[in-house]
Amino acid sequence: MNTLLLPAAHPDTVKTAAEIIQNGGLVAIPTETVYGLGANGLDENAVAKIFEAKGRPQDNPLILHVSELAQIQKFCHHIPMAAYALAQAFWPGPLTMVLPARLNVPRRTTGGLSTVGVRCPDCDVTREIIRASGVPIAAPSANISGKPSTTTAAHVLHDHDGRIAAVVDGGPCRVGVESTIVDLTGERPRLLRPGGIGPEELLAVLGDLVIDRAVTAQIDKDAVVRAPGMKYQHYAPQSEVVIVSGSREKAAQYIHAHFQPGDRVLCFEEELPLYEGCDPLSYGQEAHVETLSAGLFSALRELDDPAIHKVYARCPVGGGVAYAVQNRLKKAAAFRIIDPEVDA
Ligand code: TXA
Ligand code: MG
Repeated sequence: MNTLLLPAAHPDTVKTAAEIIQNGGLVAIPTETVYGLGANGLDENAVAKIFEAKGRPQDNPLILHVSELAQIQKFCHHIPMAAYALAQAFWPGPLTMVLPARLNVPRRTTGGLSTVGVRCPDCDVTREIIRASGVPIAAPSANISGKPSTTTAAHVLHDHDGRIAAVVDGGPCRVGVESTIVDLTGERPRLLRPGGIGPEELLAVLGDLVIDRAVTAQIDKDAVVRAPGMKYQHYAPQSEVVIVSGSREKAAQYIHAHFQPGDRVLCFEEELPLYEGCDPLSYGQEAHVETLSAGLFSALRELDDPAIHKVYARCPVGGGVAYAVQNRLKKAAAFRIIDPEVDA
């Protein structure tokens, strides 16, 4: 299969992409968070192709992408007022809400669950493609399962060239980490995955929020969890990643003391001069956390190299999108965190 590269601004792109979706094919779509691997979310056979292309476990549900808030009533029922309040505050944007699914949503899309994640992405071309295709687009992050997510069209081609019908190139993703997922089907709203919207922002609208334990700790692969995706290994380059926490100086002392040839350092731009001779890679500025979220997955992809032995990574502190960056890095590191004050 020859994978078409469709520039977002080209006048035929929306029509071409919508036709592929209507015909049951796969199109990678840009969003403000990461690129998604999209198909008609109401067509079981189309959805099956997503699982196959990604090598994704069948029980890991997909998010349905809608172009307008009003569409969720077609696919969800018992929608609480909180969902409308969140949509009002954050849609279109990096927020996915888990709601009870109507029966017209195939169980292949929901991974067998009776709930479905819905999101309205903040990306004009993608909302136009959804409108033109006349169906909600089911789309997981476009990476091969387990690998760092895709934040450019080039990342998508690296993983899927020749295996999907098209990629819509909307440039690098602005946010760079996936959407925040909040489950509104329980007694209390529950954060299943931190993302572009920080927990404080959710709390300000909801007045209550439980943080699911899958956010803060490694989950056993056989465990019963609310967000099935959280139990699978994620975002990990082939090398071992360890986070080195603590002050700039203490971290640099620790890393220099343990660094071996073949290791790499993933750090903030401000820290590059501290790691001369250690082949450091910056993923953004600590002072501008949105540059860290935007740069994280590109950097993890660059470090996905069998020649690299160990990656020492520096991680931002704080809330907002920094909380999501911490979550992705901790997952990439399988929660291996060294505190130089304690572990020296
Ligand atoms: O930003 C995003 O959300 C991107 C873009 C493409 O929109 N999509 C994305 O999809 O990250 P994916 O499939 O890579 O991650 C979706 C996560 C998975 O961990 C999945 O288990 C969880 O959402 N999820 C989906 N539907 C769910 C449901 N009904 N209940 C609980 N978790 C759900
Ligand atoms: Mg994903």
